[in-house]
Amino acid sequence: MISIDKLTVKFGGVTALDAVCVDLHATVCGIIGPNGAGKTTFLNVMSGFNTPVEGSITVFNQPLLKMRPHERARWGLRRSFQQEQVADELTVFENVAVILDALRIDRADRHAMIDAALEFVHLSDLRNHKTENLSSLERRMTEIARCIVGQPRIVMLDEPGAGFSQTEVERLRDVLIGIYDFSGAMTLLIDHDVDLIRATCVETMVLDFGSLVINGKTEDVLEDERVRRVYLGVEELE
Ligand SMILES: Nc1ncnc2c1ncn2[C@@H]1O[C@H](COP(=O)(O)OP(=O)(O)O)[C@@H](O)[C@H]1O
Ligand SMILES: [Mg+2]
Repeated sequence: MISIDKLTVKFGGVTALDAVCVDLHATVCGIIGPNGAGKTTFLNVMSGFNTPVEGSITVFNQPLLKMRPHERARWGLRRSFQQEQVADELTVFENVAVILDALRIDRADRHAMIDAALEFVHLSDLRNHKTENLSSLERRMTEIARCIVGQPRIVMLDEPGAGFSQTEVERLRDVLIGIYDFSGAMTLLIDHDVDLIRATCVETMVLDFGSLVINGKTEDVLEDERVRRVYLGVEELE
């Protein structure tokens, strides 16, 4: 469980997160809201890129903000970024191995862990291909393999579905749904695709201008009048 208390982040005059208090319990938690709502900033605070001016985050009863960024990674925090982060000159296998290098996982265990991660994202056949030769979806799957290899406890994905066709998003969706069974990790998923959020997230929180609008069961949240108002004119909620 992730417990957020009074989390506040400021960039000069902009309050990117404004005293956010929320408890996240679900195996897959959605984070939605219009552009500029503070979604990425929240992941940045979790991973240590941004420092809050106030507030605390407790992850499975441990104070996260007291851990340094590399300790958070070793603890089991993983993420993907809105901008793709795969290294073109490396193979799929090597891109995943880099994560285990950073985590100082025993060499003897690495192959089996990477094989399992690649199989999970359906990239076993492409393991020795350089990622520059892969499709966008295969590259995104490589990023997901990097997030789930080893023993992650929290996997955070920032708009993984952006730019993909409906068929591609469906393949992504099936992988996202399986992360908990594969790794036992809790997933935090930011995306604008409401169908993807509905299909994958047990609970969803909504941010708007840095404030929490609502957090609860996804189906209830997507029906909520305040959420519809937040999205009015931004995109259509079915
Ligand atoms: N490094 C930064 N410097 C200044 N302002 C920032 C920075 N990062 C984010 N912001 C501002 O914080 C607000 C929240 O941004 P962000 O978390 O990226 O929103 P989202 O991911 O929901 O689109 C926006 O107003 C954005 O312009
Ligand atoms: Mg963002």
